[in-house]
Amino acid sequence: MTVREEIEQLKREKNAVILAHYYVRPEVQELADYIGDSFYLSKVAAGLKEQTIVFCGVSFMGESAKVLNPGKTVLMPDARADCAMAHMADAERIRRVREMYDDVAVVCYINSTAELKRLSDVCVTSANAVQIVKALPNRNIFFIPDKNLAHFVAEQVPEKHFIFNDGYCPVHEQIQTEQIRAAKAAHPDAEVLSHPECSRAVLELSDYVGSTSGIIRYAGESEAAEFIICTENGVRAELEKRYPGKKFYFTEAEPVCEDMKLVTPDKILRVLRTGENEVVMDEKLREESRQPLEEMLRLAK
Ligand code: 13P
Ligand code: SF4
Repeated sequence: MTVREEIEQLKREKNAVILAHYYVRPEVQELADYIGDSFYLSKVAAGLKEQTIVFCGVSFMGESAKVLNPGKTVLMPDARADCAMAHMADAERIRRVREMYDDVAVVCYINSTAELKRLSDVCVTSANAVQIVKALPNRNIFFIPDKNLAHFVAEQVPEKHFIFNDGYCPVHEQIQTEQIRAAKAAHPDAEVLSHPECSRAVLELSDYVGSTSGIIRYAGESEAAEFIICTENGVRAELEKRYPGKKFYFTEAEPVCEDMKLVTPDKILRVLRTGENEVVMDEKLREESRQPLEEMLRLAK
């Protein structure tokens, strides 16, 4: 039997389903039942019927799936796959900001640990952050952990006062304006499509800014035939599959999230066989981090 056939057989035997983020390896994306950005995957995870969820992504994604689905078994193909930005905020600073501003809403990017989510009022993803922040009654917004997404949202919602944190995604921060200028010089007709985790200077050079799903959608809707993609290189697989007539370039040093790339077909097979790397959470932490995630799903409807 091939690895794929064995995975399919175990999925049937164990009533399992595979979810994958666009940043994982193409050969992993091909095995997924559901593939998408963080928002899509959290919506899917909240409504699954299957008993076992194999989450091909990083730890905050598996954790969120467990929080939204406490009765299910969530398995991570590689337990080391983590997101550096998920840890880049501080409980003490959140407490101080809450003391300073009466009506503050702590808005927590889903790329965060459950420990940070439990201290927050609402979660957001890059696909729904503007919509959710607009919908909040609060004027003061403390946006954690990502400073770049925070600045992007603040520009779209000028009526609110933002307090910024200093977290960032090391993968998207690598993308520099000089690299974009060089790519534009090589492909002058290409449009620049960027993820809001990129720096403000990069976003200023972009024709479109959006989540990974937003980028994929925009590339299909645009009349342009060539694009410079400023996000993790895993999205290439979906872009090329959907739009074979269009061309996609990345900046010279292609952005790669090494944690996302830890997931391989062999590791999926292994956890399906053994039940290893199950996401186990403290009950109180799970319950407290559930509210901001559910608030996100409610406000983003
Ligand atoms: P989206 O899935 O919201 O596009 O975010 C990208 C990301 O960094 C996921 O880790
Ligand atoms: Fe985290 Fe950046 Fe990797 Fe996304 S790409 S998982 S934000 S380190």
